[in-house]
This record gives sequence, C-alpha cells and structure tokens, in this order.
Amino acid sequence: MNTVTEAAVLQALSSVRDPDFNRNIVDLKFVRNVRIDGGRVSFTIELATPVTSTKETMRVLAHDLVARIPGVTAVQVDMTANVKAAISPEINKAPVEGVKNVIAVGAGKGGVGKSTVAVNLAIALSQSGARVAMIDGDIYGPNLPIMLGISTQLGSDGQKIVPAEQYGIQLVSIGFMTTDDTPVIWRGPMLHGVIQQFFREVRWTNIDYLIVDMPPGTGDIALSLSQSVHVSGSVVVTTPQTVSVADTRRAIKMYQKLNIPALGLIENMSHFVCPSCSHESDIFGKGGGEGLATELNVPFLGRIPIYEPIRIGGDTGVPVMIGEPKSVAAQAFRSAAERLAAQIAVTNHAAAGVKRPIPLTQVR
Ligand SMILES: Nc1ncnc2c1ncn2[C@@H]1O[C@H](COP(=O)(O)OP(=O)(O)OP(=O)(O)O)[C@@H](O)[C@H]1O
Ligand SMILES: [Mg+2]
Repeated sequence: MNTVTEAAVLQALSSVRDPDFNRNIVDLKFVRNVRIDGGRVSFTIELATPVTSTKETMRVLAHDLVARIPGVTAVQVDMTANVKAAISPEINKAPVEGVKNVIAVGAGKGGVGKSTVAVNLAIALSQSGARVAMIDGDIYGPNLPIMLGISTQLGSDGQKIVPAEQYGIQLVSIGFMTTDDTPVIWRGPMLHGVIQQFFREVRWTNIDYLIVDMPPGTGDIALSLSQSVHVSGSVVVTTPQTVSVADTRRAIKMYQKLNIPALGLIENMSHFVCPSCSHESDIFGKGGGEGLATELNVPFLGRIPIYEPIRIGGDTGVPVMIGEPKSVAAQAFRSAAERLAAQIAVTNHAAAGVKRPIPLTQVR
C-alpha cells in the first residue's frame, strides 16, 4: 500500500504552469489547503485573476496529474482566485479604502469609445467573478449612468456615499448629482475636490478593480487622479486611423509622465462585423493599434469591432456584454478583460518583489 505524501502531490503539481506568469503553480504558491486522507486528496488552486480561459484546462491537468500518483483513489480540485492589491511605490499615497486596483481608461482623443470600452470591460471582469466598480471621471459630460441604464440619486449610509449598482457594477458619477441639461462648470480646485471625494468619501467594499472612465484629452483630471491615488495603470483606447494613433502615443506618454504605467492598448472600432451575417471586414486596414503597442512597448489587449449593437447597447443602457453576451464583440471584450486582469496580476506580483512582469506578447 502506497502512502500519499504532500511532497508527492506538490511534485506532481509543479508540472502545471500558469500561462500569465509563465511559471508553475507550486513556485507561485497558488496551491493551497492540501489535504490527504488515505488515498483521497483535495486541494485548492488560488489564481491571481478570476478572468482566465485556461482555468478549466488547469483544473483538469492538476486533477489528472495527482490522480496518477500511486495510492491516490480520489482527487478534488477547487479553483478560486484572489486578486492582489496594487502596492504603491509612493509612500505618501494612502491606498483607497476597500479598493485593490484603480485602472484609468483613457485616450488621446474624444469619441474613440473610452466609455463604451470601460463599461464593457467592467462587465466582462464582473461576469467572471471579480468585484468591479466604476468612477465616471468625465465630470463635464458624464455618460456612464445612461450607458449602464441607471437613473438614481446617490444615497449615504450616514458616513459615506453609497454607490449605485447595476449589472454587478458599482458606480459613482457626477451625473447622479446634477440635472440632465445643466452644464457643469468646474474650477481647478473644485475638480480636484470631486475626484478626491469619489475615492475617499464613497463606501467601496472589497473591490478588485475600480475602473475610472477618463474624459477626452490629456488634462486636469488625469493630473488630479495621479495626485490623489495610486493608479495601477491605464488602458488606452485608440481607433485604427493614423491621427488617433498619433494622439494615442501622446496619451500614453502623458500617463507615463504622471507615473501611471500603460497596462495595455485597445484598438476600438477596428474592423466591421455585420450584425446580420457576422461577416468581418477590415475597413481601416489591419494592425495599426498592435503596431503602435509594439513600438511603445505596451501590451496589446485586443481589437474591438465596429458593431451596431455596441452603440445601441450604450444608448439604451443595456451594454453588449449584457444584451448579446455570445456575440463576436462580447467575446472581444472578454478576451481584452482577461489580458488586462493578467497584466495587473503580473504587475502586482512583480511589485511584491517576486518576479519581473512578463510582456503578454511572450506569454500568449
Ligand atoms: N465598437 C463600437 N462599435 C459601434 N459603436 C461604438 C463602438 N465603440 C463606441 N461606439 C459608439 O461611439 C460613440 C462614442 O463612444 P464613447 O462615448 O464610448 O466614446 P468616448 O471616447 O468615451 O467619448 P468622449 O470622448 O465623448 O468621452 C458612442 O455612440 C458609442 O456607442
Ligand atoms: Mg466618454
């Protein structure tokens, strides 16, 4: 009769690799709660991101490797995820209470789909099990309440503002504090104050990813954001045309100057997907965003097609991730969200001093 040992289980599991980190799950300390009861073995694999298409493959591989150990009669594998909090290198910036990672979604230009991408990425992250919140950083023209289909006034729990909630996403927006047609005129200090308030005076609870939808251009809000909190990084949205690509280069450089690293680039409105036959055509040519990402040494997170239901979803408050979760467009958001989550995980892991981040282009 063979006695099963923890060492043998870990030895078998060291052949399971996490593709985001390109390292085995034992070295990464992802294997938890190993229990051995005669021939019955159970353990948990705790990944660094809930958003991973390789989770099931890893579970099956881990199960089969352990099942092959002599003496093992039954194997139970539980898959969980624990998103790590970003570690600020700047000691003067207190972490945002209840928030692990702040992500800015921006662009060099207006109208390229920042808000649309931010909303659908947020929903994709949430649908995979993460706790996600959004701040509508566009305090001049807040769009998120409409895009998420929320019409409400923000409440309070007596101490802090309580965010609104829809589709699993918690949201604060200046849109909840003004009437529809009134233009908001902000002076610099007021603007800084409201951004501060969104982070410090809102009841955020155990949020893995707090996504900030940035207003167009390279302006005050980004500066205010970088001065207020530690931002894990930015997602920069571009369209394939040359002008937008030049603006994008400037935006990435601006964020880098503000000590906000670029987590990745997304090319939106990249190719056309016909709503009736799903045929795809590259009306602007192919590869602009990806080429720029390579040039600037920024991970490329993916291409989102031009697809009419994306626009309709934004106008009607039912984003495409909710209205058409099986569409090509939703799949594109899902895979961009997965790459984003992976990039955050490797960045945080590196900051914790374990290993340098691996560029995603080498991993996938
Ligand atoms: N991939 C897409 N396919 C079809 N329509 C899209 C797509 N992305 C965005 N849109 C539409 O383009 C318009 C602009 O998008 P959005 O408001 O998200 O851009 P933005 O960059 O946030 O703009 P602003 O600079 O004004 O904040 C919206 O009507 C939106 O529904
Ligand atoms: Mg916008």
